[in-house]
Amino acid sequence: MNVFTSKTELTKFLEQERIKDKNIGFVPTMGALHQGHLSLIQESRKRTNLTVCSIYVNPTQFNVKSDLENYPRNTEKDIELLVSENCDVCFLPNTNDVYPNGVSKLLEINLSGLDKRMEGERRSGHFDGVVTVVNNLFEIINPDIAFFGEKDFQQLAVIRKMTQVLNMNVEIVGCPIIREPDGLAMSSRNERLTRHERLAATFIYNTLLATKNLNGSIQEKKDFVIKQFENHALFKLDYFDITSEKNLTACIEEPSKLTRAFIAAFIGKVRLIDNIALNN
Ligand code: PAF
Repeated sequence: MNVFTSKTELTKFLEQERIKDKNIGFVPTMGALHQGHLSLIQESRKRTNLTVCSIYVNPTQFNVKSDLENYPRNTEKDIELLVSENCDVCFLPNTNDVYPNGVSKLLEINLSGLDKRMEGERRSGHFDGVVTVVNNLFEIINPDIAFFGEKDFQQLAVIRKMTQVLNMNVEIVGCPIIREPDGLAMSSRNERLTRHERLAATFIYNTLLATKNLNGSIQEKKDFVIKQFENHALFKLDYFDITSEKNLTACIEEPSKLTRAFIAAFIGKVRLIDNIALNN
């Protein structure tokens, strides 16, 4: 695997590969890699003939400073994992390369409100930081296909929208959530859970599953989830929402189209998110 820390070196390398007619798959990450990320690398390797994985903890998408400071970092282990997946390129950029105009210069685009609900409402400015870093990384790498996990389903929708609005020539592929054997969605944040919290954390997925199987109206499903969390000693619900998959608008009546249920909740100091498709 080639490891690049400089944008110039990476772009030189990719230009050479493109001449050989290689199509480029891109998996942007913030490191602390787990099986969820590796499933994206695997998908990229199936669909393209050169896979680039970037590892960059993006400062502009954290609205809480301590969250950025406490974000798990383990580049050595990440590189070992990427090598074991036969990833072709690991890009470890510095902030000057990612933000040539400075971190205060964020992309301003109209995302048709996709960035305003749920995560966008709770984490002010979060999606401005996400679209900026992804756009800047796309400019450097110029991938044919980019891969994102459905665990951050809203992020996936926001990035799809960004590529439409900016008329970008890149295919966005969403990949299924990878779960631990007890159902907890894999996330770099899981590393921050205490043993006790980790054991309890399966509650989020179990609640989503119970909601999916509950034969009731949207309001009944919402009431059910709120009650479940009220009765839980460790979890505090941040939000529960049921929305259309396409435009993430809230469903009020029984949905006829594809819908998803979303949960964000705190356990101790850690905020976890998860989601589930309701009609399949
Ligand atoms: O999903 C993530 O890890 C990040 O939001 C991303 C897409 C790498 C942008 O920093």
